[in-house]
Amino acid sequence: MLVVVHENYDAMSRKGAEVIASRIRRKPNLVLGLATGSTPVGVYKELISLHRNEGLDFSKVVTFNLDEYVGLPPEHDQSYHYFMKDNLFKDININPSNVHVPQGMFGDVKISSFETDPKIVQFCEWYEDEMKKYGGIDIQVLGIGGNGHIAFNEPGSSIGSRTRIKTLTEKTVADNARFFKTANDVPRYAITMGVGTIMEAKELLLLANGAGKADAIKAAVEGPVTAMCPASALQLHRKAIILTDKPAATKLSAEFVTYG
Ligand code: F6R
Repeated sequence: MLVVVHENYDAMSRKGAEVIASRIRRKPNLVLGLATGSTPVGVYKELISLHRNEGLDFSKVVTFNLDEYVGLPPEHDQSYHYFMKDNLFKDININPSNVHVPQGMFGDVKISSFETDPKIVQFCEWYEDEMKKYGGIDIQVLGIGGNGHIAFNEPGSSIGSRTRIKTLTEKTVADNARFFKTANDVPRYAITMGVGTIMEAKELLLLANGAGKADAIKAAVEGPVTAMCPASALQLHRKAIILTDKPAATKLSAEFVTYG
């Protein structure tokens, strides 16, 4: 695992964008896994500027997002469909037919049958198959929750888990409430790639900034590999890069990290 600590958020974001841009230049039809949330916004801004100023070409790039809230239509301003369009896709030359964000609307499904509903189960299987059809994800961008979650794989999620519907923990609902009018408006369920799905990406690029992520980064990098910290699974990956700013790295042993 390569852990690189940066002076600040902007430096971390520049590095994250550089890594992705280098992979696109090497393989124009890169299969790129994307995350939402506040962390990768800076990377997406840098990618937009590389597209505008240096002609970084996304026309053949294929994308797969990690997750989507259940119950928010794509045009809802807090849906991850909307987020991706607003923060990246509208400003680059991506082909819309190459974009994949999990479906969040399944019509009238009762909460009690969420996990077995054929529409949801079939969608999740289709999403996994679609990734395989493109040869798998080349590089997957990840953020990390304050509780160590990756995508919406909350503590306790199986390390072998696949794309499925998950209940959000109260901590994640509280963390995400800042984007909604009230905590009651935050969806309680999401479709998410599993930890096992994420681990099949050929390369992982996890970003973390701010002191609120310091405990999660310590547990992910130096703690035991445990389902109680889903991000700790990265220790088992052959090619995982973790980029942080200084506050997110304060709890790491100094000799472990490099400085960017
Ligand atoms: C979003 C996602 C989540 C976030 C995590 C951190 O697609 O998968 O796991 O990466 O909740 O969110 P922020 O970046 O808002 O702190």
